[in-house]
Amino acid sequence: MNKFIAPSLLAADFGNLQRDIEMINKSEADWFHIDVMDGVFVPNISFGMPVIKAIKKHAKKTMDVHLMIVDPDRFIEDFKNVGADILTVHYEACPHLHRTIQAIKAQGMKAGVSLNPHTPIAVLEDIIADLDLVLIMSVNPGFGGQSFIENTYKKVEQLKSLIEFSSSNALIEVDGGVTDENIEKLSNVGVDAFVAGSFVFKSKNPSETISNLKKLASK
Ligand code: DX5
Ligand code: ZN
Repeated sequence: MNKFIAPSLLAADFGNLQRDIEMINKSEADWFHIDVMDGVFVPNISFGMPVIKAIKKHAKKTMDVHLMIVDPDRFIEDFKNVGADILTVHYEACPHLHRTIQAIKAQGMKAGVSLNPHTPIAVLEDIIADLDLVLIMSVNPGFGGQSFIENTYKKVEQLKSLIEFSSSNALIEVDGGVTDENIEKLSNVGVDAFVAGSFVFKSKNPSETISNLKKLASK
């Protein structure tokens, strides 16, 4: 099974964004993870369309866009237009999740759903067959650099069983506090894609750190 490393640009140096994008292009990373925060769904604001459009100009890999915003339906077409390949919305922010997922797919993007740490896997039972990806938050969304929540392993195992039981093709992605200490275990319990922000960008050699994470995840 292929394992995907998705460095989160939230931890990049925004004053040197092009440099950091080129580093990811040349590295063994698989996806660009792009965190959009609205200051309402989460207590922080990150960036929006103009910045994503600028990233897309240089990024040569899959754009994995994680929306931490209320009522994401308003912007699905806009995210397609600025270059999203995978668009992930939060379960907690979507009262009509089935409609939202269909709208993402209708724009030709892969559709993902993210769950906050307190949200049980069981809420996905009736939607799992429609999903391309499930993003399990392993920290409370809103900030980089937080510590990994240990309960995540159990949730990944539950999700893996649900995916197998429902013959779904959904990939499992984990986001928050991913390091060289937990990536191998996460991979073993069934995670396909790993978001890593601070661990990559705060390291001495981000490109080497990415290679090392990829190696540990693929063991
Ligand atoms: C948090 C974001 C994450 C964040 C992860 O709300 O969704 O993608 O960038 O950062 P680290 O890897 O530093 O926990
Ligand atoms: Zn994220």
